[in-house]
Amino acid sequence: MRRSLVVGNWKMNGSVVMTDDLLTGLKEGVVRSLSAVDVVVCPPFLYIPLAVQMLAGTAIEVGAQNLDIHKPGAYTGEIAAEMLKEQRCSYVIVGHSERRALYGESSDLVAQKVKAAMAAELKPIICVGETLDERERGDTGRVVREQLMSVLDLNGVDIFPFAVVAYEPVWAIGTGRSASPDQAQEVHALIRESIAELNPVVADQTRLLYGGSVKPENAQGIFSSPDIDGGLIGGAALVASDFLAICASME
Ligand code: PGA
Repeated sequence: MRRSLVVGNWKMNGSVVMTDDLLTGLKEGVVRSLSAVDVVVCPPFLYIPLAVQMLAGTAIEVGAQNLDIHKPGAYTGEIAAEMLKEQRCSYVIVGHSERRALYGESSDLVAQKVKAAMAAELKPIICVGETLDERERGDTGRVVREQLMSVLDLNGVDIFPFAVVAYEPVWAIGTGRSASPDQAQEVHALIRESIAELNPVVADQTRLLYGGSVKPENAQGIFSSPDIDGGLIGGAALVASDFLAICASME
């Protein structure tokens, strides 16, 4: 049985006060009501130490939103995997579509970031997904498979089930327009089949998340699909009651 996983991606949002408020709310809710779901929050780098400190002794884990591929050294402005590990991060988001589109991250770089994360024993949450243009051209399957394969070519299938895949259609991120449960399930099945071609046992154990405008209202519909094991949540992760409601819909 794959354990459900819900990850909150705060993106470049937050402050000390907001981190304190949001995590206080999450801590209470998770302690009260959740047992069958793994919950992870990914604040901006600066708030990671505060989040780790506040969540110590709870079941909520902390992740980062990005990392650099290099060992510590002369890379101004970057953060190394070792540093995240030292701060007690468990997960790191890699290849989010905003990183690919706004900061020019190629699939090759994403594959190297997965490698850097694995070397530091951080669980990578590997984001894949098509743009609206690509979907309308009927290219969804090819694009998602290529993004996944560049990670697998460099890292091998054995990174799973330690690593997680998040399918996030670019047109659904922050738009209020989520994929339908059928659209999401179709791509999740394709991702699982692609991993199964290399190792069916590993494919069966690997957690596949859906992300893109997940809200308390649509979460249950999306998460009831057989190949969807949880969610990567953006906007709704900034409101404790919404995030908790989404987590509860996975139970
Ligand atoms: P959203 O973002 O839930 O606000 O659409 C998801 C994400 O970008 O991970």
